[in-house]
Order: sequence, then C-alpha cells, then structure tokens
Amino acid sequence: MEFEPVLTRNLGVPNIGDLKVYQSRGGYEALRQALASPRNELKQTVKDSGLRGRGGAGFFAGVKWDFLPADHPGPFYLVVNFDESEPGTFKDRYLCDIDPHQILEGVIVTAYINRIDTAYIFIRGEFHHQAEVLQRTIKQAYKEGLLGKNILSSDYSLECVLHRGAGAYICGEETGMLEALEGKRGWPRLKPPYPAVAGAFGQPTVINNVETLCCVPPIIQRGADWFKSMGTKKSTGPKLYGISGHVNRPGVVELPLGVPCRELIEKHAGGVRDSKRCKGVIPGGVSMGVLTRDELDCPLDFEGPPRYGCMGLGTAGVIVMDEDTCMVTALRNIVRFFAHESCGQCTGCREGSGWMLQILNRLLGGQGRGRDLELLLDLADAQGMAPGKTICGLSDGTAWAARTFINKYRSEFEAKVSTRDRVAV
Ligand SMILES: Cc1cc2nc3c(=O)[nH]c(=O)nc-3n(C[C@H](O)[C@H](O)[C@H](O)COP(=O)(O)O)c2cc1C
Ligand code: SF4
Repeated sequence: MEFEPVLTRNLGVPNIGDLKVYQSRGGYEALRQALASPRNELKQTVKDSGLRGRGGAGFFAGVKWDFLPADHPGPFYLVVNFDESEPGTFKDRYLCDIDPHQILEGVIVTAYINRIDTAYIFIRGEFHHQAEVLQRTIKQAYKEGLLGKNILSSDYSLECVLHRGAGAYICGEETGMLEALEGKRGWPRLKPPYPAVAGAFGQPTVINNVETLCCVPPIIQRGADWFKSMGTKKSTGPKLYGISGHVNRPGVVELPLGVPCRELIEKHAGGVRDSKRCKGVIPGGVSMGVLTRDELDCPLDFEGPPRYGCMGLGTAGVIVMDEDTCMVTALRNIVRFFAHESCGQCTGCREGSGWMLQILNRLLGGQGRGRDLELLLDLADAQGMAPGKTICGLSDGTAWAARTFINKYRSEFEAKVSTRDRVAV
C-alpha cells in the first residue's frame, strides 16, 4: 500500500505558514474536535495508538501523560523540546520550516488533553529563523482565538511562550532544559522526582519533542487504528528520517517506522555518493552507536538498532559513512563533541570523556599504546552502558559510540597502536 505522508502532508503548499492557508487544508480541525471531546477519551486514543516519543528515548506518550498527578491543583505546564542539538538531527527544524502551524496545533491539543495552563516552547538558540517563524505563528494564533482565554469559545484557556535557548547541547536533556527555562545553568537534575511530578518551577510538567506533538492531532482526527496501520507492532506511525553524510540526496524523508536502513539509503537518499561502498551508518544521532555495512538490514524502528548492538533508534538522524572514512577519526570527533558538551557534574562523564579524547588523539597521532583500546573500553564501561552511573544520558552516548566503533572496527583501531607497543603487549 502506498504510504500517505502525515507530517509532511503540507510540504510545498504556498504560504502554508499563513493561518488561513493552514486552515484551508484542514488545519485546527483536530483542535475543534478535541475541545468537544472528553479528555480521558482523547488520552486513551493516544495511548491506544502506541505513539512513542520522537525525541530519542521512545517512551510511550500517553503513558507519560498519565504520570501527571490527578489530584494536583495545578498549574500544569507543557515544555516542548525544540532544542534539537544531537549531531545529524534536523527533523524538528524541518517541521517548523515546512508547516509551523502543525507544531502549534500539536501543542494546543496536547495541552488541552493534559489540562495544561502554560506551554513553553524551548527552541535551540541557533534557530534564529525558526524562532521568528514560531513567534509569528503564535501571534497569529492569539489573534484568531486559538490561544489565550477561551480558545475557540470553549472554557479552555492556554498561554504559550517561546523561550530561546543559549546554545548548549545539554539543554536538550529534559531536566537541563527545565533548569535553563527557569533561568539557571542547564544542569540536568537528579531523578526522581520526574518532571511529571515536579518539573518546571516545581509544578507537574509534560515534556515532549516537537515531532511527537505533531503526531497527536492526526491521531485524534483519524484514530488509533489508522495510526497503528503504519509502522510495526511496537513502533507505530510515521517517522521523519534525517539523512546526512556521504549520500547523493541528503535531507528529511517521512516513512512508516521500520524501514530497513539499506532501503533508506539506496531508495530514499540516492545511494552512497560517487558510487562508493558504505562503510558504516549511525542510525539515530551520534549517541546511538554505529551499524556496519553488513548490518544494513536493520529496521529503523525502536526495536531494530538494539538488536545490532546500538543503544536505540534515537532521533533517527541517520549519518552515512563511505569506504574512505577513518573510523578512529569519526569516533574522535564524536567524543570531542561529548567532552565539550559535558556539563561537568558527574566525574565519569567529565573526566572520562576528556580522557577518551586524549587517547583517541594519541592513536591518531601515531602514539597509540598497547593497552589503549582496553582503556577506552574500560572508560566506556565506567561512564555508561548501564543505568545509574551518571545523572543524565549524555555519558551513555559517549559510551555507546566508543564501544560500538571500537568493537565493530577493531582492526582499524589496532592499526593505530604503534608497532613497538603492539609487540610489547
Ligand atoms: C544529552 C541529551 C540530549 C537530548 N536532546 C534532546 C533534544 O535536543 N530534543 C529532544 O526532543 N529530546 C532530547 N533529549 C531527550 C529528552 O531528554 C526527552 O527524553 C524528550 O524530550 C522527551 O520527549 P519525547 O518523549 O516526546 O521524545 C535529550 C536527552 C539527552 C540525554
Ligand atoms: S552525565 Fe555528563 S552531561 Fe549528564 S549530568 Fe552528568 S556530567 Fe552532566
């Protein structure tokens, strides 16, 4: 059956950022429908649809919403994660570029379902253009009664505030984001308490990714079964895949969850450029690890990459590396990023990533020592690969990248250990 685009359905429609044009395409009809429906039924529909978070962890959206304490007097907050700083990830920015009202409708419908009083959209600091677009979109919505008091003459009111980040990757981690929103340094919080119980300004807070929220209005309009008809049993619905690196046609494509990595590269990204062979693929942002060219049958859904030793699907930001890529350099670049972005609260992450970087630089400089690979793997174990070693997941990203690159391309790393040392060990 031909796949009918959901999130990109308005791609290329002239002036779609204009409210009237968006409405002429059926925009805000889901909101009308939601406002006339009981909240528990709407939430149940989202739960039944199997919608999982598109920000990286793949947690079930409706289940997360259930964690909001039912007997709390409020106020309740929604914080929209539009930080999008994971290298290789550019899908949320794309959604804003092609259809900004779609994002806002997702925000308002989700806010209504969860009795939210104020929605904060936390947007990455470097997204100057998208911030202007969203601010304009919010202004139009206020003017037309889609935000503010008594939305569309209902008894539901919602304020919406756009908050610009200051450019730190760690502010994409949900509790780092809350700290930054509150005007503090973006240091992730120890959990529990989880944001649903004590989030922004100490109040119960829902946090969702932009793409997750964009899935909500179509689910409300077309139902859980329709959503489940796309994707796989445990990974339902459409997904935006961002493809970059050594391919002929980099960009964003929308497909049902579960497309095999090979098909994504060959059919949807025009294959590896210059007719070269693929050497490896990062399936979902650099934190997730790497797939070798023998693992390209991996389905890109929430279950696929872990079966091939990766952490998960992540953001589905797929980075393709051709046969000329030096995997030691690729890992060094990833670790350099994490070492730079570590907030420094946890010893394993702060010291471990810096230490790994030194070792990788040593290997690349021809000064590798006999025990360097074991040391790198030990450091990876010390800072991630198991929950609870650090406050947030940044260090897990460093660990998964290191472990999969070294184990899957071991001979390339071994070749960087100096001959003298290799004999000595
Ligand atoms: C270091 C780090 C960076 C993250 N960056 C982002 C980000 O830029 N955007 C995002 O949506 N989620 C990011 N996340 C995941 C969020 O913490 C959170 O799980 C997500 O926003 C929840 O939304 P979802 O359930 O809709 O996916 C990051 C997590 C970590 C550990
Ligand atoms: S794991 Fe790293 S980034 Fe996360 S809180 Fe600890 S030091 Fe900060």
